[in-house]
Amino acid sequence: MCGIIGYVGERQADHVLINGLKKLEYRGYDSSGVGIISSRTGKLVVRKIHGKIQNLEELLKKSPLDKGTIGISHTRWATHGAPNRVNSHPHADCSKKFLVVHNGIIENYQILKDQLKKRGHKFRSDTDTEVIAHMIEECYHGDFLTAFRKVISQLEGAFALGIITQMHPETLYAARVGSPLIIGVGKNENYIASDVPAILDMTDRIIYLKDGQMAAITKDKVDVFTFKGKRMRPKVDKINYSVDAVQKQGFAHFMLKEIHEQPKVFEQMIKTRIKGKKIILEGIGLTEKQIKGIDRIFIVACGTAYHAGLIGKYVIEAMTGIPVNIDVSSEFRYRDPIIDRKTLIIPISQSGETADTLAAVKEARDKGAKVISICNVVGSSLVRVSDGVLYTHAGPEIGVASTKAYVAQLGMLYLLALKLSAYHMRISSRERQKILGDFKKVPFLYRSILKTKHSVLNIAKKNSHFGCFLYLGRNVNYPSALEGALKLKEISYIPAEGYAAGEMKHGPIALIDEYRAVVCISPQSEIYEKMISNMQEIRARKGKIIAIATKGDMSIKKHANFIIYVPVIQEILSPLLVALPLQLLAYYISVQLGCDVDQPRNLAKSVTVE
Ligand code: F6R
Repeated sequence: MCGIIGYVGERQADHVLINGLKKLEYRGYDSSGVGIISSRTGKLVVRKIHGKIQNLEELLKKSPLDKGTIGISHTRWATHGAPNRVNSHPHADCSKKFLVVHNGIIENYQILKDQLKKRGHKFRSDTDTEVIAHMIEECYHGDFLTAFRKVISQLEGAFALGIITQMHPETLYAARVGSPLIIGVGKNENYIASDVPAILDMTDRIIYLKDGQMAAITKDKVDVFTFKGKRMRPKVDKINYSVDAVQKQGFAHFMLKEIHEQPKVFEQMIKTRIKGKKIILEGIGLTEKQIKGIDRIFIVACGTAYHAGLIGKYVIEAMTGIPVNIDVSSEFRYRDPIIDRKTLIIPISQSGETADTLAAVKEARDKGAKVISICNVVGSSLVRVSDGVLYTHAGPEIGVASTKAYVAQLGMLYLLALKLSAYHMRISSRERQKILGDFKKVPFLYRSILKTKHSVLNIAKKNSHFGCFLYLGRNVNYPSALEGALKLKEISYIPAEGYAAGEMKHGPIALIDEYRAVVCISPQSEIYEKMISNMQEIRARKGKIIAIATKGDMSIKKHANFIIYVPVIQEILSPLLVALPLQLLAYYISVQLGCDVDQPRNLAKSVTVE
């Protein structure tokens, strides 16, 4: 959730670090800090501040750091202790010789802190991180790696660490358990970072530090060890996306840029995954026999990925007849679900680092299930614990509100359902081919929806004053309603609820009056008339209706105050299309209200803590 970047080389460290931090701001943004070793005094120097990176930049202008070519920095998303200057990272020990940045949670920090306090250590912050600096101070007797190992062996929880010390002013130290950490390999300089975008404009050569590994990094050498001290030979991977992918490229926000990337994401998926009538699910890691043997599927995911999974349940069951259960990961992991060797687990995650989803997978694996993940980030923790992976390859998603990753997850679930349906037949092969044929039209249809975005903007302008939104959908678009409501609430802070339209009479109808807006997802479908009945009930209570309907549907004008049209597509594929107007509506309302679209309050892009 927090962002880490560290540097060792020949350039002025804080300049490199601030540049990298700005690219990581989407991970967490309540405070930030930077620490370097001064080349003049050989001592650690630190600047920290509450708020966004811009505040840190201004602080550094007013109060510049000494020259220094090694440093660490951090953008924070508070877990332990309020978001303020004192709790922001880096954190130092009593002697101010060791400086630590940390991503994750040290679960046993209170016990460790109490023990350290008893032994005379003075704490400045309320964070769990600070214990690490004090522990190193105690364990250090001339050999840093030995001290580091000793400290790590006492830590419980998930963490990625970056450490510098004036005792070894040429070395940047790093370690990871759970939380992601990469090493960037440059020429006469090296980096650590919690995510690729931080260093992508400086190097495209990356070492993914594995769980249980630590590293000692100088400007021209990277040494990787296990926590037991065994030296490892790290593999250097080349990143295959460009700096453009992590820049706004003229769009006002990353979210808007990513909404516009959706036709391309789909085009790419179709190009690589569909050859003629065949679906290529490279990476799936299942033999034909294993596919035939699947008798139950469990999907686990959080937030938007969970909504994609819910649609996946409708689609897979409709096409294959295989029963699909779905849980939010945080429930799955604690409720002792019934799983056996014939169960296929499909975790869905953009980041591949979501702590709850990783824990759910561990739970499932312990019970013997096969795990095929749907994931966007190559080499992420989720991928490493899966038997197979279906990469969505949507490119880096920077906007905190997930858009292109969501439709890519949906796309992958449709392809998986189609693939499975060849072995578990609930639809005829003609129906399969018809769905596949329509699926291939999606990029074209996306472009036509994006051309009408101004009508969504107008609707947003006329409706952004509503203090509460209800989103209703039925059948395969019930999850679309949940996702539409989530998009709106997370970036505009307007309370928004998603409901199965059939549930309206069982409670939510009490909300409706002239002060509420209701988004009715009502494309042509077998149960279209049922949605119309719901709309009549809303109108009778003076609620304002924004309908998402199929192009050419004129009769809906009688029922809705505002209409956003999407192109004609068969019902089962319609969630793919309605996703875009829902994203655009949330986006434009957020802009109208002057909210911080890409970095909404209290949120972070990847939720690496429970
Ligand atoms: C909402 C959003 C979150 C994530 C959720 C899971 O727009 O982005 O709800 O979908 O935190 O994250 P991943 O997909 O990285 O596991």
